[in-house]
Amino acid sequence: MAASETKINLPQGFLLGAASAAHQVEGGNTHNNWWFYEQEGRLPQSGQAADHYHRYEEDFRLAHDIGLNLMRISIEWSRIEPIEGQFDQAEIRHYRLVLQSMKAHGLTRMVTLFHWTLPLWLAEQGGWENSRAVEWFSRFSQLVAKELGSEIDLWITINEPEVYSLMSYSYGLHPPFQKSLPRMIKIIHRLIRAHKASYQAIKNILPQAQIGLAKNNVYYDAYTKGAFNQLAVTISNYITNFYILDRVKNYKDFIGLNYYFYHSLQFRLTKGWQVKNQAGPKSDMGWRTYPQGVYYLVKDLYRRYGRPIYITENGIANAHDDMRARFIAEHLQALSQAIVEGVDVRGYCYWSLTDTYEWHDGYGPKFGLIEINFETLERRVRPSAKIFKEIIL
Ligand code: BGC
Repeated sequence: MAASETKINLPQGFLLGAASAAHQVEGGNTHNNWWFYEQEGRLPQSGQAADHYHRYEEDFRLAHDIGLNLMRISIEWSRIEPIEGQFDQAEIRHYRLVLQSMKAHGLTRMVTLFHWTLPLWLAEQGGWENSRAVEWFSRFSQLVAKELGSEIDLWITINEPEVYSLMSYSYGLHPPFQKSLPRMIKIIHRLIRAHKASYQAIKNILPQAQIGLAKNNVYYDAYTKGAFNQLAVTISNYITNFYILDRVKNYKDFIGLNYYFYHSLQFRLTKGWQVKNQAGPKSDMGWRTYPQGVYYLVKDLYRRYGRPIYITENGIANAHDDMRARFIAEHLQALSQAIVEGVDVRGYCYWSLTDTYEWHDGYGPKFGLIEINFETLERRVRPSAKIFKEIIL
């Protein structure tokens, strides 16, 4: 890319990083509900994944070498609490070493507590449908705060409560494979309570902790001008983007934004509302990329909530690696524009550091800055990862 395209005006101290989630990279997460259904043949096998559980040092060294200074990981609840009420000291020690290694590699540590996998004992008791799940999650949060809190810089309680609820309770693609709107709505409200309880549990131990949740917001616009298209945008914005955040208003020190989707909406009397994107670049998963969307989203979030913002995920499945560098640069350009206009955006995590187990899509989609050979577990930094060093802050 030309130097003019990589000259991005980001403030001093802006954090540039990457994200991951335990079940998608660690391997061998045998005590959670995903693993259970994988063995049943209902989901692709995650197996040893990227073996990040054993190779975290190497991964953090590569992250540092690429030029990153922020890393978002998740702690696997089922490792810490494989049996109800019993906490595994060896796993707590493991995560302490992981967090210390991040620090040693110059990475600010952002940690997610629930990134979609449940301990099997909890799933067997109904998962989030069981009202006690809130109390159990709060106990787990408290334990992590006590044992590991001094090694955590930024906290994310829950990753994408609405996407989790949609995939697991409406689309039926993720465990427990339900297709029920009322149950989905119930789970969303349960997760709102879980977030608040977790926030409080952490704050009780670490009053200074910086805590947020990661929210997947979609950038909507009207396909063509017109009152109905615009109404569709307003309603979608409220339901998808603001409903949950409004309900946790006083329980967030920052906003974590996951940005992947752009939808242009059209209303037709015969068909209702439809997504009608104009032609444009698409990822290997068919997701239309639209960097400018992140500018509008952070502007809206800041206007509405006035809290600092971290981009907790933004990424592209791109096996040929021919779109990734531009994708990253253009999103950072859009963020820089918002920052110049006064929006307090403090950091950016690309999804993902390495190739991952992409949930029900298995090992197909390639999001990584680092390519993983899932047979040999060899790491190879993709050429696009150079972008972080080329960006002139
Ligand atoms: C999730 C990640 C996932 C990514 C790409 C996000 O919604 O948080 O776990 O891998 O999207 O599909």
